[in-house]
Amino acid sequence: MTDKTPFKKEYTSDVVEVIETVYGIGFLSQGGEEAAQRMLTGLDLKHKRLLDIGCGVGAPTLAVAKLEPTLQVTGVDVDADLITIAKRHALEQGFADRSEWLVSEPEGQLPFEDQQFDIVYGKESWLHVADKSSFFKECARVLKPGGLLVTLDWMHRSIDYTPQMQSFAQADGLTFHFCTLQQYQNALGQVGFKIQRCVDNSSYHLKYAQDDVAFLTGTAKATLIQKLGVATYQAYLNSWQLQVKIFESGEMQTYLIHAQKPTV
Ligand SMILES: C[S@@+](CC[C@H](N)C(=O)[O-])C[C@H]1O[C@@H](n2cnc3c(N)ncnc32)[C@H](O)[C@@H]1O
Repeated sequence: MTDKTPFKKEYTSDVVEVIETVYGIGFLSQGGEEAAQRMLTGLDLKHKRLLDIGCGVGAPTLAVAKLEPTLQVTGVDVDADLITIAKRHALEQGFADRSEWLVSEPEGQLPFEDQQFDIVYGKESWLHVADKSSFFKECARVLKPGGLLVTLDWMHRSIDYTPQMQSFAQADGLTFHFCTLQQYQNALGQVGFKIQRCVDNSSYHLKYAQDDVAFLTGTAKATLIQKLGVATYQAYLNSWQLQVKIFESGEMQTYLIHAQKPTV
């Protein structure tokens, strides 16, 4: 894995503020605590160590910590400003003892020794990772034998983008590296992960996006226009409206995957 990919700040304080207005404080992805916790349904979390890669400002990581009092959580993100905020949230919510927060290199080596974690978790973050194979290799390195990778991620249905899909990918200034479910599974398989669970989550995301558009055009409209100006508000609204379209058409899909690292 190269450790030379430069960090490019995309989640600026303005972007984070708008996303949190829509998704809730501490969340940079949809569905709140329930969605973050649902990813781990059925798993025994007692006395486990979980690493959240791409933890953002930390609310999903803390939602997961709330599931089990003996679970230790570690959040990493490439953006040091986000990690500072996540750490503050953890402190304010009484999770200082059960959490740690570290900055990681984009596409680089994770700041951990081998085989430290029982679960590596990622909620809608790895869509920003270009080289999935190298990234999954790094996830495998820090997982204990038999450890579990749990990811909820955005994938596109086919390798070709429709113009609509292209517009979405460029709408809000974030860099995405979407791949298809097949490519994602292949990249996991190359590193030796065995897929245990693969669930289409897209219907949730269509509903989230529809609710977000209703919120943006209703309750939040006046405040956001006052804060951002009409043009910026329209640009954000356009991005969320495109999100509805690509989920409606099925071009964009989200999947929850559980994949196990071999025990030997
Ligand atoms: C859509 S946000 C999701 C954040 C968080 N998981 C949540 O659900 O609120 C994506 C996050 O991934 C982070 N990120 C992007 N590329 C990354 C990488 N290579 N390694 C770790 N984090 C990354 C971004 O800084 C951002 O915080």
